[in-house]
Amino acid sequence: MKTTIIGGGGRVGSNAAFALQCAGIVSEIQILDANTDLAEGEALDLLHGASVFGGQKIYAGGYARAVDSDVFIITAGLRRKPDESRLDLINRNVSLFAQILQSIQTAGHKQDAIIFVVSNPVDILTHLAASFLDLPWQQVIGLGTMLDTARFRSLIAEAHGLAATQVKALILGEHGDSMVPIWSSATIGGLPLSGLKKCSPALRNKVFERTKGSGAEVIRRKGGAGWAVGATIAEVVHAIALDKGELLPVSSVQQGCYGLRHVSLSVPTVLGRQGVLEHREISLTPKETQDLKRSAQALQKTMAQVAGKV
Ligand code: LAC
Repeated sequence: MKTTIIGGGGRVGSNAAFALQCAGIVSEIQILDANTDLAEGEALDLLHGASVFGGQKIYAGGYARAVDSDVFIITAGLRRKPDESRLDLINRNVSLFAQILQSIQTAGHKQDAIIFVVSNPVDILTHLAASFLDLPWQQVIGLGTMLDTARFRSLIAEAHGLAATQVKALILGEHGDSMVPIWSSATIGGLPLSGLKKCSPALRNKVFERTKGSGAEVIRRKGGAGWAVGATIAEVVHAIALDKGELLPVSSVQQGCYGLRHVSLSVPTVLGRQGVLEHREISLTPKETQDLKRSAQALQKTMAQVAGKV
């Protein structure tokens, strides 16, 4: 499987490339970046490790060389300037994103290519990509709440002094302020999390608030997320590459699950080589369902503000 990482010279893109390289599942990793020197440098550095891990083909290239990619991973994006509003950043990122989509379209892509959006605001950009590109909606996905879910699980495990891989808990909705923690089905080692004595409402609240603020916390401490986002990108790519049919909280255009339409966000989604195989409406508590609908409304409000800007 060939993957092309657009924005592969940046922190998120290069960390994703390293996660893919270490796992050794995809056979080709192309690094594409507006800064071609940086792309060449990252590709070379990764290539030097190819004899240790994976042994994949790793190189820097442009859109013409990307046409036979199975998965396009879009991580390119701009950072907020000190005097800039959130909406200004969205507008600037939307125009950059539209140029990327145009470049993919113009150079060409395979009919079964998957477009995997990571750049923020991820749900908005996923929705724009699905409407802009000449591809079935199932082949356009966003990282959505994959990273929030990974953070949530790791922080729950840390709070209880147990192994993170044994925690199963989801975050759904927007990758942003309105994200929804799904406590009702959270388990640890196959048992309900609610059965743990320490799992008080106060502790839950603390863990969720830290999860929600994790993006900002990492920006403050080291400039931006890299390793964990790279790991979750690899998790999604592997579900596609191995046609796993895994149930993952990726973002995609909603088709009526939980009553949601005309919006892209994360619901339990079955993912395989063709992209979204199915959205699964697994029952949530009435409050969780209501919060998910609220999250969709928040995204629709932002969508209305950026509409017409591409
Ligand atoms: C974060 C960015 C990647 O949450 O959205 O850290």
